Amino acid sequence: METLTLQRNYSKGIRLWHWSTFLVVTLLLATVLAGKFFLNSYTNGFLIKDRLAKQGVAVNMGEAFSVSDAIGKPIWQLHTVLGYFLAGLFVFRIVIEVFQPKKQTLASRFRKAWRERKGQKRGSWQVFLVPAIYSLFYLLLTAIVASGCWLAFTRTASADAVHAVKEFHQQCFFVLLVFLFVHLAGVIRAERRQHKNLVSAMIHGGELPVAKEKERSPNRRADVC
Ligand code: HEM
Ligand code: HEM
Repeated sequence: METLTLQRNYSKGIRLWHWSTFLVVTLLLATVLAGKFFLNSYTNGFLIKDRLAKQGVAVNMGEAFSVSDAIGKPIWQLHTVLGYFLAGLFVFRIVIEVFQPKKQTLASRFRKAWRERKGQKRGSWQVFLVPAIYSLFYLLLTAIVASGCWLAFTRTASADAVHAVKEFHQQCFFVLLVFLFVHLAGVIRAERRQHKNLVSAMIHGGELPVAKEKERSPNRRADVC
């Protein structure tokens, strides 16, 4: 008998959440890239002042910045709208955690890791690594959504407070980049080793047994964890 490779099961809800989050986060990152590099109010302000001066039109920095702010504004409006979608997905993820099969919740992955920790050859903490990384990501998501919504809704805060929250929101962005790198590296590593078809399981749910192709009977279905 050929050995089966491990495969996880993912509920419809978590798959819908995962790929929708992937899409929205990618679009959010695109708006940040555009807003920070191509439509940056600060650098464009100097550019506008400089170019107009070369054509003999003198404007002060305040006037130049008001033009560059207006050019950059739509991209941040789009960012904010996408941010509301991410906030909605965040709430959806909490609902999924409550209603999806108990075996697939993040809490149950921790319980499973706790049971498995003794059989580990290389150090019991390693079985906690994956659920711990996902928990940190959800913490990060909470911070991004909370600070983003604060920025979107606040009208009366001082300029200093807005600046501090923007700075925090931006630091979260850098941490998110680290998570994405670690996540993709981890998924590729797992896919190449013991979790063959992990990515497709996140697409179709992972109900099929993962035996070698020649052994798989076309109608056989089984639950594998
Ligand atoms: C913006 C990009 C992404 C984010 C924010 C993200 C986030 C996440 C999170 C939070 C989980 C854990 C879900 C849970 O069980 O609670 C997860 C799992 C997973 N993701 Fe992603 N992901 C992203 C992109 C991708 C991409 C591009 C792929 C495919 C190449 C991928 C493949 C997977 C797979 C296979 C799992 C299941 C891994 C496991 O069970 O340990 N993700 N992702
Ligand atoms: C993947 C998630 C997100 C990333 C990577 C991200 C990143 C950023 C970055 C880098 C900035 C610029 C900060 C600065 O200028 O110092 C920003 C601004 C902002 N973000 Fe986000 N953000 C995310 C999610 C959200 C969410 C969920 C909201 C909630 C609605 C939001 C609302 C805002 C607002 C209102 C601003 C200020 C825009 C302006 O200056 O007019 N963001 N974001």
